[in-house]
Amino acid sequence: MQTPIINIFEKAARKAGKVMSRDFGEIENLQIQSKSLGDFVTNSDLKVEEILLDTLRYYYPDASFITEESGTIKGGDEIIVIDPIDGTTNFIHGIPMVAIVIAKIKNDEITDGIIFNPILNDFYWSSKGKGAWCNNKRLRVSKRQNFTECLIGTGIPHANRSYKTYLNEIDVVSKNCSGLRRMGSAAIDLAYVASGKLDGFWERNLNLWDVSSGVLLVKEAGGKISTPTGDDWSINSKDIMASNLEIHDSLKEILSLQ
Ligand code: IPD
Ligand code: CA
Ligand code: CA
Repeated sequence: MQTPIINIFEKAARKAGKVMSRDFGEIENLQIQSKSLGDFVTNSDLKVEEILLDTLRYYYPDASFITEESGTIKGGDEIIVIDPIDGTTNFIHGIPMVAIVIAKIKNDEITDGIIFNPILNDFYWSSKGKGAWCNNKRLRVSKRQNFTECLIGTGIPHANRSYKTYLNEIDVVSKNCSGLRRMGSAAIDLAYVASGKLDGFWERNLNLWDVSSGVLLVKEAGGKISTPTGDDWSINSKDIMASNLEIHDSLKEILSLQ
């Protein structure tokens, strides 16, 4: 069922995932550096990215790479996007909501992507037109229509990021839904929307590597992606909103009340 490119992404992610799992079991030995206020990188992020790049560059020597830790590596039209650990703060604190993200982009469109949580052994994948999957199970977004019954994910800004809009948004959304969740990994948030666990999700100020695979996963699971104002999401968008088709407009309208 899996496409050949997903097999290669899986090979790279499982190899790197072994190192990530081992380090997760010994977090007291983690070397942690601060990139900016509240933004950390560990030696695991760097090791995992190196393993991913080694494997992927062997199979795709002509591709371009956009990575969180090594920056952009210029090559051909095919772009491979990498977040070695999405959820680094969780990782540092021993919280297992962490994931390796690898996606392919061609002509500004995400065509294939994986999200792998090596701690929980959850392997999510999707390829355009082939559906969204986790551990061989087909994923579908939830069917909830009534916003008051919905569980909504978000990301809360920290450190020197701006809070005001968020506090107002959290206020209006939480008053209208059955609960809010902050997973600490945008990739997992989107995978949970695709799985029907979360009914919706929104977050601002994200990077392409946080959301690339998740965007395709949600679409292939029958969900909808836009910006929080309802505009089309593109690979240059920083802000995102994802949900099942039934509540997309409601989430947009509720967010606009802030
Ligand atoms: C972070 C996670 C988190 C989101 C942050 C991201 P990182 O990625 O996706 O959920 O709220 O904005 O930076 O730094 O752990 O790769
Ligand atoms: Ca990330
Ligand atoms: Ca990361």
